[in-house]
Amino acid sequence: MIYAKITGWGKCIPPATITNDEISQIVETNDEWITTRTGIKERRVSHVSTAELATVASQHALACAGIDGSDIDLVLLATCTPSTMVANTASLVQKNIGAQGAAACDTNAACSGFLYAIQNATAQIQAGMIKRAVVVAAERMTWYVNWAKRDSAVLFGDGAGAVVLEASETPSGLLGSKTGCDSTDRNILHIENYGTDMNKYNPTGPSELLFEGREIFKRAVKGMSEACDDVLNQAQLTLSDIDVLVPHQANLRIIQAMQQRLDINDDKVMVNIDKYGNTSAATIAIALCEAVEQGLIKPHSNIMSAAFGAGLTWAASYIKW
Ligand code: ACO
Repeated sequence: MIYAKITGWGKCIPPATITNDEISQIVETNDEWITTRTGIKERRVSHVSTAELATVASQHALACAGIDGSDIDLVLLATCTPSTMVANTASLVQKNIGAQGAAACDTNAACSGFLYAIQNATAQIQAGMIKRAVVVAAERMTWYVNWAKRDSAVLFGDGAGAVVLEASETPSGLLGSKTGCDSTDRNILHIENYGTDMNKYNPTGPSELLFEGREIFKRAVKGMSEACDDVLNQAQLTLSDIDVLVPHQANLRIIQAMQQRLDINDDKVMVNIDKYGNTSAATIAIALCEAVEQGLIKPHSNIMSAAFGAGLTWAASYIKW
C-alpha cells in the first residue's frame, strides 16, 4: 500500500496588519462587537498577489521537506481568489518554485479547497501516478472586501499555507476523507460580478463578497460536524483517537459550536482566527503549520480537520502526521 506522507509544511503571512480598532475608523463597528461575535482581533492584508503568497509558502514547505521544486510532479493550488484565471495561477507557482514540467492546476472549492486538493493529490500518489506533490492554499480575500460594509469588512484576511506530499510505505498522511457539496443554496455565499455569467454581471458594479451570515453559520457547524462523523466511521475511529482538531477558521463561535457538538476539549483544538480572520482555503493550511510550530501537532499525531465554504462545499480529513 502506498501512502502520501506530509514531509514538509510552510506558510506565508503578509506583514501588514489591520486591527479591529483600525477597521472601526473606516466603518461603524468596534473591537468589542467583532471580538465577541467572531473571535477576530486583527487580520493581514497582502500587498502582493495570490501567486506570490503561494510561492513563498510552497518554498518554505519544500525547504522543510529537504527537496527541490524540480522533484515535484504536481502543484495543486487551492484558491477562490486566483491572481489570473488564464493562465491558471498554479502554473505561475510551478514556474516560481522551479517545478518545470510538473502538472499545475487550480482547485476552487472556496474554504474547503485545501482539503479537496489534499484528497486529490493523495489519490494520485496512491494510484502510483505521481510521487511528490505540493498542495498549497493561498487567498487574497481582502481584494474582494467592500471596506464600506461592516458585515464583511471585519471577517476576512490574506495568507497562504502549503504542504509537500511524498509517496511512502509508512501509514501516514490522509487516511480518511469526505468531501461534498449542497448546491441548492449556492447563492447564499458568493462573489458578485466575478466570472462570465452575463445575467449576473454588471460591468460597472464592484466585485464583492456577499453572504447570509446566520444561515452559513448554522450550515457550517452542521456540515463540518457531520463530515467529521463520516470520516471517523470510515476510518473506524472514535473522537478519543483524535489528538488535534484543525477546523476552518471562519468564526470562533462556529468552532466552539462544532467542538461542543463533537465533545472535544479546548486543548485539542487549533485556533488562530484571532490573528488572521478568515483566509478561506488558506486557514487550515496555515493552522496546520502553526499547530506544528506550537507543538500541538507532533510526529504521529492523529489530526481531524474540517471545512465549509461557498458551493456550499464541505470537507473533513483524518490525517496522520
Ligand atoms: N459591527 C457592528 N455591528 C455589526 C457588524 C459589525 N461589523 N456586522 C453586523 N452588525 C450588526 C448587524 O447589522 C445586525 O444589526 P441589527 O440587529 O440592528 O440588524 C447585528 O449586528 C446582528 O447581525 P447578525 O448578522 O445577526 O450577527 P451574527 O451574530 O450572526 O454575526 C457574522 C454575523 C459574524 C457574519 C456571523 O453570522 C458569521 O460568522 N457567519 C458565518 C461566517 C460567514 O458567513 N463567513 C463567510 C464565509 S463562509 C465560511 O467561511 C464558512
